[in-house]
Amino acid sequence: MPVAEFTEAELVRWGEEFGRSLTFPTWVTLRGDLGAGKTTLVRAIARAQGMLEPVTSPTYSVVREYYSPRGRVFHLDLYRLEDPEQLHQLGWEEIRRAKGLVLVEWPDLAADALPGDVVALALEHVPDRPDVRRLTW
Ligand SMILES: Nc1ncnc2c1ncn2[C@@H]1O[C@H](COP(=O)(O)OP(=O)(O)OP(=O)(O)O)[C@@H](O)[C@H]1O
Ligand SMILES: [Mg+2]
Repeated sequence: MPVAEFTEAELVRWGEEFGRSLTFPTWVTLRGDLGAGKTTLVRAIARAQGMLEPVTSPTYSVVREYYSPRGRVFHLDLYRLEDPEQLHQLGWEEIRRAKGLVLVEWPDLAADALPGDVVALALEHVPDRPDVRRLTW
């Protein structure tokens, strides 16, 4: 798997390019510690889908949905999920049926509810380099 170290600007550029290369439906998982840059990368990937209309509230929620010219885009942040059973209440089946782009932070909390075929990204802090993150894809 490729690995590279990126500043925030470089990571955003990578995310926009990666986002443009995606075809729907696709699931992308983003692993990494708190502050590793998952949401930063999600925003870049989502932005690359074209004009996006925020559908859910910008305040904290587990699922945010956007419409893009390419289809529906879901951003799931499972950090506060206590049990994979809660996924049903979040509309998991509908998300799986939507054939959109699904970007999942903290995917391990979904246990085996994720589809088998995902693009797995991982971000890590780099010791002594607070402005850099290591991305594995
Ligand atoms: N090279 C970098 N890439 C991404 N973010 C960086 C980088 N350098 C510094 N940062 C900063 O690190 C923070 C990353 O925050 P972000 O919300 O994207 O992380 P996260 O992985 O989604 O965290 P959480 O698990 O809390 O959701 C931001 O404040 C960003 O400005
Ligand atoms: Mg985040």
